[in-house]
Amino acid sequence: MSGFFEQRTADAAGRIGELAVPRSGVTVETPALMPVVNPHVQTIAPSRLEEEFGAEILITNGYILSQSEDLREAALSMGLHDLLDFSGAIMTDSGSFQLAEYGEIDVTTPEILDFQYEIGSDIGTPIDIPTPPDAGRDQAERELSTTQNRLERAREVETGEMLVNAPVQGSTYPDLREDAGRHARDTGLDVFPVGAAVPLLNAYRYDDVVEIVTAAKRGLGADKPVHLFGAGHPMMFALAVAAGCDLFDSAAYALYARDDRYLTVRGTEQLGELDYLPCECPICVAHTPDDLRDLGDDERERHLAEHNLYVSFGELRRIKQAIRRGNLLELVEARARGHPAMLDGYRALLDHADRLERSDPVSKDAFFHLSTESARRPEVRRHHDRLARLALEGHVLLTAGGENSSYDESWRIVPPFGPFPRHLSETYPLTAEVPERTGRESYEAAAEGVVQLVESNPDVEFTLAHREWPTSALERVPERVSVVPLESMDEYDAAGETDQ
Ligand code: GUN
Ligand code: ZN
Repeated sequence: MSGFFEQRTADAAGRIGELAVPRSGVTVETPALMPVVNPHVQTIAPSRLEEEFGAEILITNGYILSQSEDLREAALSMGLHDLLDFSGAIMTDSGSFQLAEYGEIDVTTPEILDFQYEIGSDIGTPIDIPTPPDAGRDQAERELSTTQNRLERAREVETGEMLVNAPVQGSTYPDLREDAGRHARDTGLDVFPVGAAVPLLNAYRYDDVVEIVTAAKRGLGADKPVHLFGAGHPMMFALAVAAGCDLFDSAAYALYARDDRYLTVRGTEQLGELDYLPCECPICVAHTPDDLRDLGDDERERHLAEHNLYVSFGELRRIKQAIRRGNLLELVEARARGHPAMLDGYRALLDHADRLERSDPVSKDAFFHLSTESARRPEVRRHHDRLARLALEGHVLLTAGGENSSYDESWRIVPPFGPFPRHLSETYPLTAEVPERTGRESYEAAAEGVVQLVESNPDVEFTLAHREWPTSALERVPERVSVVPLESMDEYDAAGETDQ
């Protein structure tokens, strides 16, 4: 199968897409959350996941089913969709995780793929090897090569309309992840999970998560559907989507509920430590923390799992709306303020602003300058690249004030973008909402814009009339630019109204 993933709207490297799943004839809107359904213990029935929470796809474990005395035959005779009572798409995992946990499983890739096909899975998975983070280079290379052989074998299995995952491994080596991505793409398989992220996610190493995802995507190319295997904490969905992930699977909603953990978009709370339930879902509106603590174990677990699902699906809707509005990075920025590990993740993402810039729309809703990091956003990068291509003549004033007729041209200068011709004032991103009390980084970014413009126009004379720029920004302005405080300009030429 190919060409079944279509991208609709993009923002940064995030996108709303449609994943056509031919075997069930359904289309899944991405980014999508696949609740993990344990075939033996269903905290929330799959039919409820579908009807009450809007799950269009779920994931279950083909290996566990194949080993199960009571469910194997039922899965084969009824098919997964009837067995679980779920009419959306069903992805199955292969036992790789069991392999990683217990060191051994007694099934081969062709056997387990065949079984997944026989039980009616929509998206099957070969047995990849999830090499943990920080593994030695030798181990990472050896295991990746085994995974790649298995992907080659997977291509030869007769899987009809079932889509097949091509997991991308490579531990924490960006170059291996990139090679793995390229190889996976070249297999012609269908969906691309970034594997072995669980230990990173559990340790809140979101910067490393961003690194492995962006490295895998360099190899995969931007057009392939990417699943972040094992990612189920809603705190990091916006970040992962902005990095280019399309699918998530959540076991967290159920696992966390089991030990009284309450998910929020800012982190995890322990039910025992809550005085209030900070959420608008039906569970939290109808109960106090004491009410929940007073319930029996099963009921409390189910209530918490429901809350966890409401929060997780709610965050995905918020992310999709943000992509439509073009303010996904503002949402990531807000999430980055909820937890220091998320701030690391966002900073790591901005290290890749040049790649984000490629998929970022040219025009969207107003750019909101919300934090120090806003100065490193792809829109600022793009504006600076554009400045390096603009040709000017004569004596040019770059001013935080109004138009000044003593110069051949007088451009505006606004942190963090830097200089731009006045006629662009009403175009994105220069329509930005910038705080009055801008931080040092933003002025420094504006100075970087001056550098780009000045360096590409060696014969032009420049004057910069700035408003209270900090020394760290002024130091970056090339020496040949005459720098004057705006107040002193106003003394000999009060013609212009200040506008910044
Ligand atoms: N579940 C979580 N991580 C992984 C992974 O790397 N591979 C597979 N097959 N399943 C996973
Ligand atoms: Zn709630």
